[in-house]
Amino acid sequence: MKVLVIGRGGREHAIVRQFASSPSVGTVYAAPGSDGMTEAECIGIGEMEFDRIAEFSKENGVDFVFVGPEQPLSEGLSDYLEEAGIRVFGPSKAAARIESSKTFAKEFMMRHGIPTAKYASFTDAGEAAAYIRSQGAPIVVKADGLAAGKGVVVAETEAEAIQAAEDMLKGQKFGESGSSVVIEEYLEGEEFSFMSFVHGSCIFPMPLSQDHKRAYDGDKGPNTGGMGAYSPVPFITSRQKQEAFLNVVKPAADALEAEGYPFTGVLYAGLIQTREGAKVIEFNARFGDPETQVVLPLLDSDFGEFIDRLLAGEPFQPEWKEEAVLGVVLAAEGYPAVPEKGIPLPRITETGHFSVYHSGTKKQADGFVSNGGRVLMITASRETLEEAADAVYRVIGRHAWPGLFWRHDIGWRAKKRTI
Ligand code: AMP
Ligand code: GLY
Repeated sequence: MKVLVIGRGGREHAIVRQFASSPSVGTVYAAPGSDGMTEAECIGIGEMEFDRIAEFSKENGVDFVFVGPEQPLSEGLSDYLEEAGIRVFGPSKAAARIESSKTFAKEFMMRHGIPTAKYASFTDAGEAAAYIRSQGAPIVVKADGLAAGKGVVVAETEAEAIQAAEDMLKGQKFGESGSSVVIEEYLEGEEFSFMSFVHGSCIFPMPLSQDHKRAYDGDKGPNTGGMGAYSPVPFITSRQKQEAFLNVVKPAADALEAEGYPFTGVLYAGLIQTREGAKVIEFNARFGDPETQVVLPLLDSDFGEFIDRLLAGEPFQPEWKEEAVLGVVLAAEGYPAVPEKGIPLPRITETGHFSVYHSGTKKQADGFVSNGGRVLMITASRETLEEAADAVYRVIGRHAWPGLFWRHDIGWRAKKRTI
């Protein structure tokens, strides 16, 4: 088969690699891909060039397109390709609203009794402030729309929340996505990511994972796209996972279908395990980054064949490895605000149980340099998370990384809970 992966980040590198190692897949194309994706043929077409993606797929007999990032999904790439008769794994624009509009997602959850934080939505800063005062702190303020995980403020005080809502509404801090804000109840508990392969009412859950959103050790500093992840998550029991499946994932997929926009793609539920069970913080309509880099390598079945058969409506149950994967993101100084570009990177050799994913790099004559906020992710797979963490940090410690920073405590919540 020939598969075309849309995107250029670390997540897409992991997707490309998984397809490249699938016996059923002969060629993996990436649009645009990146210099680090040596397993793919990068075709120099951007994620938003829908017409060129369609044209390339037709001319080259691509069996299906797999869409990595949210933006082309929220702008209708899947609809465009389907209309052109090209098979695509990624939701329609209507189904992707579960991620692209927080107001849509919240109303959808309310309509279908899917557990989530209590919320209210505002376009007026004065009304937002009054609501914040009536609810008290801690409280969470979110810009509506896509803000790459950065349009969220978990406020400790009412004043901080009011300021955040004002900034989002008046200051145009997050551009278009800040024209309305969602203010929601603070949920207390462990956070985890529950991703599933979905095609209509067919759902295949993946192993659970946990991201680390804050920039610095001890969950301090600004929110980022994610500084590291691991899978599986030892402190969520299989019973809690099953409950989250029955209370959140399945009703969401079923309701999207019942409302007339069946979901095809990766449905990502960002959950908090509260005392009353798992509650949704957000849905995403695609694979998580960096969660993909630690979850997808656990797949023990042919990824290409699995997606192909799922799209054909003839799925099989995928097998997963009983291993632990943990990965650490190396970010450029300045991230998440203004990351430095062009930092030279050391050469690292990948061996059996280590992987290096390129998140934001560029190849120059004498090697790779940084070309984004998140630069590389190094992962290790081992029998236990502790062993995987030790292995990753040992590899990082063997090289010098001037200009880059990383968290030293990826997996700390899992360690704390492992008995
Ligand atoms: P989001 O972009 O919606 O995933 O939010 C970014 C981060 O803010 C999440 O990963 C959580 O750690 C935190 N967060 C968001 N909403 C809530 C909430 N209602 N209660 C507690 N923490 C939250
Ligand atoms: N790692 C969180 C996300 O991909 O949204």
